[in-house]
Amino acid sequence: MAEQRVSIHGQWTNRTVFILAATGSAVGLGNIWKFPYITGENGGGTFVLVYLMCIALIGIPIMIAEIMLGRRGKQSPINTMATLAKGEGRNPAWVWLGWMGVVAGFLILSYYSVIAGWAMSYIFRTGGGMFLGVTADGANSIFAELVTDPERLLAWHTIFMVMTMLVVGRGVKQGLEKAVTFLMPFLFGLLILIVIYAMTTGYFTEGLEFLFSPGAITGKAILIAMGHAFFTLSLGMGAIMVYGSYLSDEYSIVQASIIVALADTVVALLAGMAIFPIVFANDLQPGAGPGLIFQTLPIAFGHMQGGTLVGVVFFTLLLFAAWTSAISLIEPAVAYLVENRGVNRIYAATWVGLLTWFAGLGTIFSFNIWKDNTISIPFVFENFTFFDTLDYLTANVMLPLGGLFIALFAGWIMRQESTREELYTYPAIYKTWRFLTRYIAPVAVIVVFLKAVSLI
Ligand code: PHE
Repeated sequence: MAEQRVSIHGQWTNRTVFILAATGSAVGLGNIWKFPYITGENGGGTFVLVYLMCIALIGIPIMIAEIMLGRRGKQSPINTMATLAKGEGRNPAWVWLGWMGVVAGFLILSYYSVIAGWAMSYIFRTGGGMFLGVTADGANSIFAELVTDPERLLAWHTIFMVMTMLVVGRGVKQGLEKAVTFLMPFLFGLLILIVIYAMTTGYFTEGLEFLFSPGAITGKAILIAMGHAFFTLSLGMGAIMVYGSYLSDEYSIVQASIIVALADTVVALLAGMAIFPIVFANDLQPGAGPGLIFQTLPIAFGHMQGGTLVGVVFFTLLLFAAWTSAISLIEPAVAYLVENRGVNRIYAATWVGLLTWFAGLGTIFSFNIWKDNTISIPFVFENFTFFDTLDYLTANVMLPLGGLFIALFAGWIMRQESTREELYTYPAIYKTWRFLTRYIAPVAVIVVFLKAVSLI
């Protein structure tokens, strides 16, 4: 390799650890909490199909590009973009891509932490036997009782932010590696168990039909599907870039990216297959919104053999999945502060954490005291709470925009020798990647943006 940089923050021990960490970042609330409820809100089949196409044609090439940029720059996304733009003799304004990512990560974490708090509180609710024999109405009101209580939400949000900052403060190796190594396979196994339960509800085919049979779709739903492809793969804001910067030069990026994207997709589809049969078996609404998994899965846990234990383990694993994603949301900001302000990780993590914690209040209040304070932007969205707005702006605008610029940088700004040298894969694979990155991904993102605001 021509570049001899090494990251000052350390390096992943080996390729497997990198794959686990990237999967840990990708697999999170996005797969288990968000994917089912937005699929439910947007009508199922076609939405899932568009999402899968976005993963394959936009997500995977951009993931390769983003890891590649990170590994070549070996610094926080902000400094990586500055270094790479300079190295390629290009406009220093590319550094703004790094900054947008830091802001997006901060905004996402502010609400992500609140939802992770729901998962945490559900560990105790399930463990305490609250759901034994529960009805659909009962599960609904237990959920409503939680989210209408700002104090409780605040307590859980605070605990989750502290947990996240503790790991981030400890750094790449000791903090992040340990947590992901054995939890991911465990989560996978448990989801399969719940899918098996869903098969016994008698509504499994209805669930599958909802997930996979095509129907009508709107421009807005297409944007949400694409935004979710970015969100679920942790793309477009530097999380995967910063993880790439801790990857040693000798490992192949292409293969790792495909493994991560596949694992992430399988987890989301399993979550869908677990949840929708339960939704239909209990006459619930697939479009129930952000509470969907909290209103459906407890019914399963309340009725299956050993459900209390399964439920406790499930919500614990969900918490861990959220945890390993949360640390990657904030890592770009922390790495930047360490690089440019000369502070240590603990100090950086504390300040970023405090700020994020504070911003999280907006999301907490969106479910209770600010519930009716909504805003509308003509042609874009209507009657959105603070939380809805944050979610929409980050997932459907900032991440795709970040991804678009990453694709443009990797496909058009960097010299071909640089990208070929960094990816060193088979010529056919390299050519496919380059074609997708130069043409398909950028055009697709722009077309979807225009379609969502009804301009085409
Ligand atoms: N991919 C994570 C999830 O699906 C969320 C995330 C988004 C993490 C962006 C990092 C960056 O839950």
